[in-house]
Amino acid sequence: MKVSVIGLGYLGTTHSTAMAKLGHQVIGIESDPSRLALLQSGKVPFHEPGLQEELKRQLASGRLVFQSAHNESSEDCDIHFICVGTPEASNGEADTSYVVSAAKELARNLRPESVVVGKSTVPVGTARELKSLMSGVAGFEVHLAWNPEFLREGTALEDSLKPDRIVVGAWDDYSVERVKEVYKPILDTGTPFLSLDVETAELVKVAANAFLATKISFINAMAEVAEAAGADAVALAEAIGHDERIGKKFLRSGIGFGGGCLPKDIRGFIARAEEIGAGSALEFLKDIDQINLRRRDKVVEIARQELGNVSGKKILVLGISFKPDSDDLRDSPSLEIARKLSGLGASVTVHDPVALPALKDNSGLTVESDLLKAAEDAELVILGTEWKEYRELDPSVLDVKSKIVIDGRNALDVDKWQKAGWKVIALGRNIKN
Ligand code: UDX
Repeated sequence: MKVSVIGLGYLGTTHSTAMAKLGHQVIGIESDPSRLALLQSGKVPFHEPGLQEELKRQLASGRLVFQSAHNESSEDCDIHFICVGTPEASNGEADTSYVVSAAKELARNLRPESVVVGKSTVPVGTARELKSLMSGVAGFEVHLAWNPEFLREGTALEDSLKPDRIVVGAWDDYSVERVKEVYKPILDTGTPFLSLDVETAELVKVAANAFLATKISFINAMAEVAEAAGADAVALAEAIGHDERIGKKFLRSGIGFGGGCLPKDIRGFIARAEEIGAGSALEFLKDIDQINLRRRDKVVEIARQELGNVSGKKILVLGISFKPDSDDLRDSPSLEIARKLSGLGASVTVHDPVALPALKDNSGLTVESDLLKAAEDAELVILGTEWKEYRELDPSVLDVKSKIVIDGRNALDVDKWQKAGWKVIALGRNIKN
């Protein structure tokens, strides 16, 4: 099929590459000239394992092209995927203005037989509004479907090509059939396909992310209790996770969730629920958010307990991305901890195997890409992002002033660090040192 992908951020770049890999003829549309130029030269503007190689292969095959706007070539696409961002507005709501302008622009250039498929994460009810808006601009009833994306950073391409399920919400069978056709190679492998009403399809994404956030905050709430009771939240997670109804995944306690999706999606979900009169149903998500943010303060509190006044003390923060295998700094828990400590007068050095170039505003922080130099004379080390490099690190190579480490991700081998003479403090655990 011939498809266009509008908006080449994380989602659009991955989705356009995946669609080309499935054998479709793909036109990626990106209005930011510098981002477009990078993509056209085969470079992915963010860190995502395996994506750049695949994108280059698809560009070379001729199935994937990138351009700045719609033209005659993109007009006759069978499917147009809308993949533009929906960032968090100041009041917590998702800002849908990019989706609206992409939809309007598309409607001006749309053919009646083409199907428009929204993939961006939007507040429930947005698709219905867009359908009426686009149909008004186009002058015919636009075929619109909503098809949420569940890709995780770090495994984005794999998640797109081998998803757990494909969800589509549409008003007409024609749109559903076209979506089925575009995903045929994936569906042929037995991937579940769920055809839902549009509002439910919109909700699936935010509900899934709200559930994941809840799981993480649940175990972090248990960590708070464990800290008070002298218990161990890691052992607790292991023990409750054996119950298949609970499961072990997403029960890693630590400094909590960040990134471009979970925090923004739960806040946007709360805001939309309030608008439609269901606010009390999602009151608990405010606690989920608060539990998550409290873990960051806990690390600052431990640092102050250990160092007394942190002012002027050198602290090394290992990892600034919101999770490993990503250079995404959006709402990164470790970066926020680094900034808070720096705000208290500490001399904070940050290290990260990949994400340092992404740190545009390093005010107050010392950025050091050489780990050994970064550690020199540190009085406290904080593990903020559990990159493999840190998990496998031999602590005896770090030439610090004082051997104290806070494991913010419960990812370090406590025995190994203690044998090397370190005091290990971990969230939710009462480690004997
Ligand atoms: C998430 C969803 O997983 C994905 O399905 C959706 O499409 C987009 O949002 P992503 O933002 O890439 O994906 O990150 P994810 O792997 O979900 O991790 C989110 C955050 O939670 C990270 O900061 C991670 O460190 C943290 N986390 C995850 C924990 O603190 N504990 C866990 O057990 C799991």
